[in-house]
Amino acid sequence: MNGNNRPEQWGTRLGFILATMGSAVGLGNVWRFPTTVVRNGGGAFIAVYLLIILAVGVPIMIAELALGRASQRNVVATYGALGPGGRWRFAGTVSLTTAFIILSFYAVIAGWTFVYLLASASGDLAGRSPEALERTFAALTTRPLVAVPATAAFMAATVAVVSGGITRGIERVNWVLMPAIVVLLTILAVRALLLPGGVAGAVWLLTPRPELVTLRVGLEALGQVFFSFSLGMGAVLTYGSYLPRTANIPQSAIMVSLADLGVALLSALIVIPALFSFGIEPGVGPGLLFVTLPSVFQAMPGADVWSTLFFAMLGAAALSSSVSMLEVVVAHVVDERGLDRMTASVVVGGGAFLVSLPSALSGAALATADFVASSVLLPVGGLLTVLFVGWVWGARTARAEVELGAAGTWLLGVWTVLIRYVIPLAIAYVFVSGIRG
Ligand code: PHE
Repeated sequence: MNGNNRPEQWGTRLGFILATMGSAVGLGNVWRFPTTVVRNGGGAFIAVYLLIILAVGVPIMIAELALGRASQRNVVATYGALGPGGRWRFAGTVSLTTAFIILSFYAVIAGWTFVYLLASASGDLAGRSPEALERTFAALTTRPLVAVPATAAFMAATVAVVSGGITRGIERVNWVLMPAIVVLLTILAVRALLLPGGVAGAVWLLTPRPELVTLRVGLEALGQVFFSFSLGMGAVLTYGSYLPRTANIPQSAIMVSLADLGVALLSALIVIPALFSFGIEPGVGPGLLFVTLPSVFQAMPGADVWSTLFFAMLGAAALSSSVSMLEVVVAHVVDERGLDRMTASVVVGGGAFLVSLPSALSGAALATADFVASSVLLPVGGLLTVLFVGWVWGARTARAEVELGAAGTWLLGVWTVLIRYVIPLAIAYVFVSGIRG
């Protein structure tokens, strides 16, 4: 590789880390993680989750960053260039397709956060009871005249950021969004724990219920790590393609993973104690975020301010993730179709908007897209990634790439074993048994 395929690189090391954290931290942390924990064994699920982060999440993140930096190309061309005779391009195409599908339903949920942001800011939610807020959410998901324009608005924002480019678009936006998200989540978690019954809710959340942990839970935890870490669909790989050779890949992967885990736990400590305090049954599904939290805000002094800030931040977290999905496809179109970045962003974003329409109009369509992409395509993409790195591109070449910017340690030997043997077997096993039963 001559390394000249990427004239534009990240402006700073921290900018890259913030952008990758921005990709990881998103709706998955706030919308999926808390309910997944509750349904699958509380503290026992968190233990399984930690194990999968260490054994699968961090190693694959390192592998994707190494792939992208080695090829300095988009995801399809990366597999093409680093594998023999371009035969592995299909693996990149799987990733690209996954990114596109996730973007389509992600934009719908993110669109709901825009609606709640406006409703909070205009005082429209003020004084509504939890029951009234439940009706508000039900109306939103069945009324296309609101959900469709909201999806379009979110997609337009995503296009605006990606069309600005790596440093002036993606990196610049994340410099603002990431610190703001962390500060706000911390304040909200403290507030939620101070609610009556809040601490009891937190204790209940963390209490292990190992009887709930089954193989299916293994599949869920694996799917959640992939989704939350933005793995298996080329986002981390594409961000890695804008890295200089001097970047420390393992250190970056660990920082991003810790930030993502921290935000997921913080989010659970907001949502679950709030549920407890209001006596709402856990496990009522994703709409939780749009019913429970608004109820909590309405019970607090300065409800509209809190609610506005929360949904602004949730929208921000969603935006910093969706730009990384759009970037996967845009980088490909720019590299291989010769379109300029602006046109590519508009065309791909417009296409994703059209594909999002079924999800915007039906909760069942959204759930199906989510299941296919998150529980099937992401693990498949991850499996292809590790097989490719371990056996095709080669663990030794990959390790040499990682060592360009990081001191060689015995841990990289462990990494090699994980990538070649442990992770492929684990994914295949959990995947096959989870799908069967
Ligand atoms: N990681 C993001 C989240 O948790 C979602 C995402 C998935 C982003 C895949 C990019 C790629 O919300």
